[in-house]
This record gives sequence, C-alpha cells and structure tokens, in this order.
Amino acid sequence: MKISISILNAKDRQKEVLKVNNTNINYLHIDLMDGKFVLNKQFTNQEIIKLNDISTKKIDLHMMVEDPLKYLKKFSLLNIEYVTFHYEIKKDLDKIIKAIKEYGFKVGIAINPNTNVDEILPYLEKVDLVLVMSVEPGAGGQEFRIDTLSKVEKLNKLKEEYNFKFLIEVDGGINDIYYDKLIKVNTDIAVIGTYLTKAENLEDQLKTLN
Ligand code: DX5
Ligand code: ZN
Repeated sequence: MKISISILNAKDRQKEVLKVNNTNINYLHIDLMDGKFVLNKQFTNQEIIKLNDISTKKIDLHMMVEDPLKYLKKFSLLNIEYVTFHYEIKKDLDKIIKAIKEYGFKVGIAINPNTNVDEILPYLEKVDLVLVMSVEPGAGGQEFRIDTLSKVEKLNKLKEEYNFKFLIEVDGGINDIYYDKLIKVNTDIAVIGTYLTKAENLEDQLKTLN
C-alpha cells in the first residue's frame, strides 16, 4: 500500500516536506480548503506552489472546495499526480472531471463518510482514483471511522464486477492499527497526517507501518 503524507497538521510544513523528500513516502497530500465547502481555510495558492517547488514527491491534491475549476489554471504547471474533488459538490461533476483530465492530471472523486458508494457509481469508469474519507473533511487529528473498511470492500467488488481501473485511497485518522486493516481490504493508497507529522523522528515512525 502506498503512503501519501498529509502535512496539514505539521508544525512547519516546509520543514516537513524537506524531511519527506528523504523517505520512501510516495506522495505529498495537500488539503486545499476554501472555507466554503468546509469551514476551515487551508493552503494559499502561493503556499502550494512553494511546497511543490521544494518537494521531490508528486502532489496528491485533495480539493475540499466548492469550485475546483477556478484553481486548475494556477496549478497547471505543478508536479501533480492526482487532483481530487468532492462528489458532494453535486454539480458539473462531468465538466470537472473533463477539465482535470485536460490539464493532464489524474482525476479523483472523494466521498464523505455519510455518502454511499452507490451514489458515485455513474463516475467510477471515468476516474483514476476514489478517495474514501474516513473522517469528516476539514481537519486533521480526528478518529478513524471503522465503517470505512466496508466501503473499500464494496469498491473492490465493483472494480471486479465492472473491470473499473480506479485506485482506492483512504484519508483521515490512519495510524499503525488502521494501516494494517486497510491493507487487509486491499486499499491502494493511505493518506496519513498527524500519526506521521506528530512524530519526533519520521523515519522511525514510518517503520511502525509495515
Ligand atoms: C481532512 C484531510 C485529511 C487529514 C488527514 O480534511 O482531508 O487529509 O489532513 O490527517 P490525519 O491523518 O491527521 O487525519
Ligand atoms: Zn485530505
């Protein structure tokens, strides 16, 4: 299972990114929040561009925003692997998917804890990633919701049944206990924030995940 580190709760985000560069962490997870889709406002465009410039990892951009399209142009030259928007925006989703692809990014669709997997069925053949939120979006350091595991199992069943190609990413409250449970249900990418950024020694903390 790949790791995408969320630096939302890092004491010093730039210092954290420099530490991450020296690890085998796969992606840098950036939680863009607009203060509308979620109450919290996090990461300015300038900060994202600066973090991109100092990072050697590809960016996994999690857009908790009402209007993803308004950001794409500014980020068009960044070293981004995934741009993920939220299904709960509920409007122009096909237009958003198309626009993200036109910029050459892989596209992800995120679902909140209270959203059923069935609701995103029409989009599953069109996306490269499904991000299953295991906490309510808007803050780091929350408790992992165990009902997330059955959603991952359901998504894997749908992949099998319809030969979908998307990867499954889980985000929120993941520590060493839930890391193992996520591997058992065949999760492709785990987003880990506080469990890693709170640690004195990132390398040692990574060793607890196996
Ligand atoms: C929450 C964010 C998550 C969060 C993960 O809205 O999408 O990426 O930062 O951090 P932890 O691992 O602390 O829950
Ligand atoms: Zn996130």
